[in-house]
Amino acid sequence: MKENNNLDLSKDWIVAAGPASLDIAAGLASKLGAKLAKVESIDFPDGESKVKILDEPRNKSVAIVQSLYPPQDKHLFQLFLIAHKMSEDGADVTAVVPYLAYARQDKEFLRGEIVSLGVISHLLRSVGVRRLVTVDIHSAQGLGLFSIPAYSCSAVPLLAEYASANFNLRNPIAVSPDFGSSSRVEAFAAVLKSEYISFKKTRDRTTGEIVTEEQKLNLRGRDAVIVDDMISTGGSVAKCAELLKKYGAPRVIAMCTHGLMVGGAADKMTAAGVDEIVASNTVPSRYSKVDVAPLIANYFQTL
Ligand code: R5P
Repeated sequence: MKENNNLDLSKDWIVAAGPASLDIAAGLASKLGAKLAKVESIDFPDGESKVKILDEPRNKSVAIVQSLYPPQDKHLFQLFLIAHKMSEDGADVTAVVPYLAYARQDKEFLRGEIVSLGVISHLLRSVGVRRLVTVDIHSAQGLGLFSIPAYSCSAVPLLAEYASANFNLRNPIAVSPDFGSSSRVEAFAAVLKSEYISFKKTRDRTTGEIVTEEQKLNLRGRDAVIVDDMISTGGSVAKCAELLKKYGAPRVIAMCTHGLMVGGAADKMTAAGVDEIVASNTVPSRYSKVDVAPLIANYFQTL
């Protein structure tokens, strides 16, 4: 059951920097003119996290910023600890989770699989989180698993602005590697004022093998920009880039919100013909070129 959890902006705001997201938290606090609360986290030799809140959040509205990039479970548990302590001390807690791990597990695709995102929703609520803000959740239907108000901002227009300002794009075409990112590529193309297309991708749910369907395209003289919510192993982008090269695209740029870049993803993509890789800072890496702090601040400012 949904609750009416509108933010009480009459309370003092603080932004709490979770151990995974100091930069985004500092940026958000600065944009909102809010105090930045410090959270100390140490690891015991066996790997347990010990988290300590260094500022008093009593009767305040607190935005706890903690992205759930790898190690996902550790970052998630740190978020649970911080949220529980703050809500126990009387704070009105909003979880700001720039990268929401487990969002791809939003239904039982194969019998016996767990809807892990639903479990996370349940646990966040049980530790006192009253609303969730994330960035480019994998699919909008995942938001429906939350029994607290949940909102996803999109970094795609910022990625498009970055592409427009930093690459001298020639007659560009924006490309979605699968139908799941069609609306994202449409939003990207709207900023670039370009054409866009979506490939049809299927993934074997047991082996993980990807098949991307061929299309009849002539991309000679046209730069192609692949846009996706996340790059994990780079397999989806690589399959797509191979086809774009085959169709004649002189330059292929891969852009995403969440650049997880696991298991040699960059090498795989480069070998497939990708010339540039750009991501936001929801997952910090050398590819994080677009800051999502202003985007999240904008969400709070327009409440
Ligand atoms: C899947 O539908 C997502 O939108 C991404 O395309 C996918 O998770 C990327 O994973 P990988 O980089 O391992 O292909």
